[in-house]
Amino acid sequence: MRLVNNHAIVTGGAQGIGRGIAEELMEHGASVVLADIDEEGARETSEELTETYDGEAIAIRCDVTDSETVDRMVDRSVDQFGEIGILVNNAGAADLARTWEMPESEWRQTVDVCLNGPFLCTKAVLNHVLDAGHDGAIVNVSSLNYSAATDGLPHYSAAKAGVSQFTKVVAAEAGRHGIRVNAVAPGSTRTPMTEENGLLEGKIGEEFLDRTVLERRFGEPGDVANVVAFLCSEYAQWVTGETIYVDGGQHIRGLHSYWDTLDEMGAFED
Ligand SMILES: NC(=O)c1ccc[n+]([C@@H]2O[C@H](COP(=O)([O-])OP(=O)(O)OC[C@H]3O[C@@H](n4cnc5c(N)ncnc54)[C@H](O)[C@@H]3O)[C@@H](O)[C@H]2O)c1
Repeated sequence: MRLVNNHAIVTGGAQGIGRGIAEELMEHGASVVLADIDEEGARETSEELTETYDGEAIAIRCDVTDSETVDRMVDRSVDQFGEIGILVNNAGAADLARTWEMPESEWRQTVDVCLNGPFLCTKAVLNHVLDAGHDGAIVNVSSLNYSAATDGLPHYSAAKAGVSQFTKVVAAEAGRHGIRVNAVAPGSTRTPMTEENGLLEGKIGEEFLDRTVLERRFGEPGDVANVVAFLCSEYAQWVTGETIYVDGGQHIRGLHSYWDTLDEMGAFED
């Protein structure tokens, strides 16, 4: 599988899904910029990846909500690699709160990281790619919650829905310039974020597992990274504007115990 370009930026690449994506792109021959607000984490990861793969991984501190650090990060990436043809907008974060208890600052911060961040990074990278005149691929990391309604995530869900619509509009704008823009929507995935927040344990973990229609397990960063690499490759040359769920089928599940519960209730007797 050949990538459309061998130079990539992955935001939030220090850990979790972003790190998995960086590894998969490097597996396919790319050199990668890990653009993360966690400078130390990104540096450690970049050293490990550079030791493991043929390409180079470099860490650049970047807060995706701040256009100055975003522009500087993209300029430095281009200086380092000569060009950038792949952008993965992966950085994201949210604290849970229901709408009527949501601090305004938390709403604004989440929309800033999850929606405004992808806009700022996309704008900066597109300006470079359009000037350079080569093909490119952008992948935005959305979420199952862009379409599902999960209590306590109104800000995150609204921002991720915005990301999927933003994906379509940029795809339409940039398609004639040889730039494809897609998104992935992961379900519950094992990362430092979900592990630290206890989202894979106890009743909540069981609920996620019950929703999965494939093997009864959580997603791994590599599951998401495989689809991102495909979208950045020539195999996906006729795919743009799409959001692809990477969730083991969680989004198609209605009542997980519909049949079994009816059976227990005797609905199928005689
Ligand atoms: N893990 C899941 O179950 C899951 C499910 C659906 C979608 N997602 C999405 O996947 C993406 C990655 O999530 P994860 O679980 O790997 O999270 P994570 O918290 O483990 O990693 C996120 C990374 O983003 C970085 N980051 C946070 N704010 C930033 C900012 N302002 N600028 C630059 N970097 C910043 C963090 O430092 C961290 O390295 C997010 O967009 C998240 O919404 C995750």
